[in-house]
Amino acid sequence: MTNLRDDFLWGAATSPHQIEGNNVNSDWWAMEHAPGSPLPERSGDAVDSYHRYPEDMRLLADAGLNAYRFGFEWARIEPADGEFSRAALDHYRQMVDTAHDLGLAPVVTLQHFTLPRWFAESGGWLVPDAADRFARYIEFVAPALRDVGWVCTINEPNMLAVFASVREAAMAAVSADTGQAATELGGLMADIRPDAAVAEALAAVHRRAVEVVRGTAGAEAGWTIAQQSFEPTPGNEEVFRRVHRDWEGFYLEASRDDDFVGVQAYTSQPVAANGPVPHPEHPDNTITGWAYRPDALGISLRRAWEEAGGVPLLVTENGIATADDSRRIAYTGEALRHLQAAVDEGIDVRGYLHWSALDNYEWGRYAPTFGLIAVDRETFVRTPKPSLAWLGACARRNGLA
Ligand code: NOJ
Repeated sequence: MTNLRDDFLWGAATSPHQIEGNNVNSDWWAMEHAPGSPLPERSGDAVDSYHRYPEDMRLLADAGLNAYRFGFEWARIEPADGEFSRAALDHYRQMVDTAHDLGLAPVVTLQHFTLPRWFAESGGWLVPDAADRFARYIEFVAPALRDVGWVCTINEPNMLAVFASVREAAMAAVSADTGQAATELGGLMADIRPDAAVAEALAAVHRRAVEVVRGTAGAEAGWTIAQQSFEPTPGNEEVFRRVHRDWEGFYLEASRDDDFVGVQAYTSQPVAANGPVPHPEHPDNTITGWAYRPDALGISLRRAWEEAGGVPLLVTENGIATADDSRRIAYTGEALRHLQAAVDEGIDVRGYLHWSALDNYEWGRYAPTFGLIAVDRETFVRTPKPSLAWLGACARRNGLA
């Protein structure tokens, strides 16, 4: 068995909108509050991590973890076009400092699904100067990134391209009692293709963002890709190849010049004649309705390694929505065995960041509990689950038992 690197990152991940609360200048907040919004629940205070992040980070560090992936919220930092908030920047700078003080390597995401409302309303990623606008934001936050080792420019650009083409249908389906999270809805519908124009625009924005990060912050720069581990149903190998290319391959290939690729894997999804199809009903399916497939991590790591041309990989998300924490431990243990197998094959994996540190707002609902830490949503009291101590023990020994 190959040892994991001495500097292997063992951590947990979050995103601003899902945990901070009151992200009032974002497009998601606007969507949550739009008349007739199909989102069943609003984010509201979320889990108030905007104020409670020191406690959250301390719980991770005390458990033994050495990394924390969190995001800077563009909508707070630039609430109006060209108007930057120094107070918001200070806040994120303090988060970075707190992480360092606690021995947690900060992994910072610059954009995680939410956009400033002004940017979304002006046309979002498709406006001709989108790359300039994003670059301007990164230049403003650069002082807060100066001792950050890992920066993720855009989270799941492939899902953003899916949202762009299915936004209305996806939003309708959230309310249609499918039991699915909005984030992965596109994957549940046949005939859905990621919007090619948005995909190209995001690739250009990302290329520019990587240059800015390298020029101003000196961090390792990459983006994070949602990998569904698509599998062909019999006779549909060609459709599978097309789906894989449109949904993932394009983005993995666009990562070849980056410092790393963030691998985000939860499950595997069948592809039939018209494209991806819903996960078959099964008693093992998780709260999000996804098939229980801890092996998806190994499949995703191998595909990313091959298609991104040997760029180092960082698992920026992997986890399970379950109310049964012993199942979370079982799933994560299996997933980590698949990660170890990939490392044994020579794949360069730099770390494992579990989704999520905290139970949080799963883009329309609070019911899918992904957290290593439970949060009482009335009192905001945090209660670490046994899975947090379990993952911390893996971190301390730098491997599974
Ligand atoms: C991917 C997204 O990045 C994250 O925001 C989401 O909560 C998880 N997947 C689970 O759906």
